[in-house]
Amino acid sequence: MTKRVAILISGGGSNMVRLVESMVGDHPARPCLVLSNVPDAGGLQKARDMGVPTAVVDHRAFKGDREGFEKALISEIDAYQPDIIALAGFMRILTPVFIDYYAGRMLNIHPSLLPKYRGLDTHARAIAAGDAEAGCSVHEVTAELDGGPILGQARVAIDADDTPDTLAARVLEQEHRLYPAVLRRFASDDRRRLDL
Ligand code: GRF
Repeated sequence: MTKRVAILISGGGSNMVRLVESMVGDHPARPCLVLSNVPDAGGLQKARDMGVPTAVVDHRAFKGDREGFEKALISEIDAYQPDIIALAGFMRILTPVFIDYYAGRMLNIHPSLLPKYRGLDTHARAIAAGDAEAGCSVHEVTAELDGGPILGQARVAIDADDTPDTLAARVLEQEHRLYPAVLRRFASDDRRRLDL
């Protein structure tokens, strides 16, 4: 049975594009929705251009009412009956209510070698700490922010003259390899960890 994947974005959607492009041929899943909480997110048009249905649930309309926002999010997502939810640059912190509702079938990509540098500004923090390497992680989403079981990681050496932007660009290239590879395994119910 082909799995249905809903992808949640807030921005340009470069990871979303790689995920959609990867779900072809003998891939065990197909995209069923790209949803954004930002109405003018650049990724929405990219999804439409690839023929994937899109939707918007604007969190600002809920004026801080997280429960109301998440109820609307769930009803919009469930209208497309996804088996898997892939967070790809979705910049809203989700509550345990939403996370429990999709427990065991929601993934996220994070631009650091978790458990190091949960949260924001991961590249600046890795450079400031004098780390030799940075990278990205795909993990299952649990109520612990960026804390769920790690399903895959890719590493990138940090150069002496790296800035957060130059490092972010090289890490993003690895994200584009890692996330499709992990999604393929996840959609085949293969939870083995992948290190690229
Ligand atoms: C990625 O670096 C991802 O790891 C982070 O947000 C960024 C989204 O980029 N959570 P894009 O929208 O997929 O290009």
